[in-house]
Amino acid sequence: MSSTPRPRTTTREPAELTRRLSAWLSTRLPGARAVAATVPASNGMSSETLLFDIDHPRPPVRSCALRLAADPAAYTVFPTYDMARQYRTTRLVAEYTDVPVPRTLWLEEDPAPLGAPFFVMERVQGRVPPDVMPYTYEGSWLHAATDAERAALEADTVSVLARIHDQVPAERAAFLGLPGRGSALRRHVAAQRAYYAWVVAEHEPSPLIERGFAWLAEHWPPTADAAADTDDTVLTWGDARIGNIVYDGFTPAAVLDWELAALGPRELDLGWLVYLHRFFQDLTVSSGQRGLPDLLRRDRVEERYARLTGHIPRAMDFHTLYAALRHAVVMLRVAYRRIHFGEVPAPADPDALIMHRAALEAMIDGRYW
Ligand SMILES: Nc1ncnc2c1ncn2[C@@H]1O[C@H](COP(=O)(O)OP(=O)(O)O)[C@@H](O)[C@H]1O
Ligand SMILES: [Mg+2]
Repeated sequence: MSSTPRPRTTTREPAELTRRLSAWLSTRLPGARAVAATVPASNGMSSETLLFDIDHPRPPVRSCALRLAADPAAYTVFPTYDMARQYRTTRLVAEYTDVPVPRTLWLEEDPAPLGAPFFVMERVQGRVPPDVMPYTYEGSWLHAATDAERAALEADTVSVLARIHDQVPAERAAFLGLPGRGSALRRHVAAQRAYYAWVVAEHEPSPLIERGFAWLAEHWPPTADAAADTDDTVLTWGDARIGNIVYDGFTPAAVLDWELAALGPRELDLGWLVYLHRFFQDLTVSSGQRGLPDLLRRDRVEERYARLTGHIPRAMDFHTLYAALRHAVVMLRVAYRRIHFGEVPAPADPDALIMHRAALEAMIDGRYW
């Protein structure tokens, strides 16, 4: 990861995008122009984000962030991009919780103005722990912080999850329910299997990912299905990780990236929070640095979450493995995209494309934790 450039994500031209954005903006706010457009330096491989300012005497906000569905002509990470769903989720969280989310300004579902649907929100000042170079490496602001500062960031981040889960009424999030039958977890896993089938439709299947799905079926949490209709099905953020939070100092100022939000058990977010840190941590250790081994430790996250919510996390072996498996499917798709764009050759073994292959194998074999 350190020696490779950022994966190619777009076939669009920023200057052209800005010109078209200005034309669109003047239809929503007469006389307004989009200026100073930039692409954020790090984070995100799926939708596209454009940061810009509004040039107008009385704009609703001056600094904006625009989230644009992936270019359907490119080799997208996900099969569909539902911007209305993300926009609605952001507003739901703003309405019912004290979790900070960016103020949403406009949703444009017509693909004509910019080539794909998009929405515009307030741009929140602060800093995001980067994915490239990962925040676990020496040189990142989070690595340079003190233990106490990182502990504060961790505590507030777990609290963000607790508040999303506890404060949004699940019935208001019904539009995030997944199709199919059975509990929310059954549907969630079924959707991931369908996503995996789409990723490998024109490729060799991945033996490791298939072993992972088989492991989930064999180790299905006994209470997961019974819990389907209780308080244990909540709005889950989805891409619940510190790389999707803008921090003001070490305090969350905006929770971003609601693309993977879904109804499901709370442990979906807890498993993802813990494992996605481990993904960067393991990568850092394998390249010879110490990383941040004390950040987001599974036992501490579980304990703090239980204290905040009264819900003791269950089946966390299952949910951390499920997080690593979901991440493997995304990684495989991202790797196939790089192969598609000719950036890397295709290996004989598809599992060689999964960067955290060893971790996932160790989890399946029960020797990771
Ligand atoms: N509302 C916002 N305010 C400030 N920065 C933002 C905002 N939305 C996005 N960004 C910047 O864009 C990056 C990518 O945004 P994100 O929502 O995580 O999309 P994705 O990861 O799907 O590309 C963030 O890490 C952040 O730097
Ligand atoms: Mg993101």
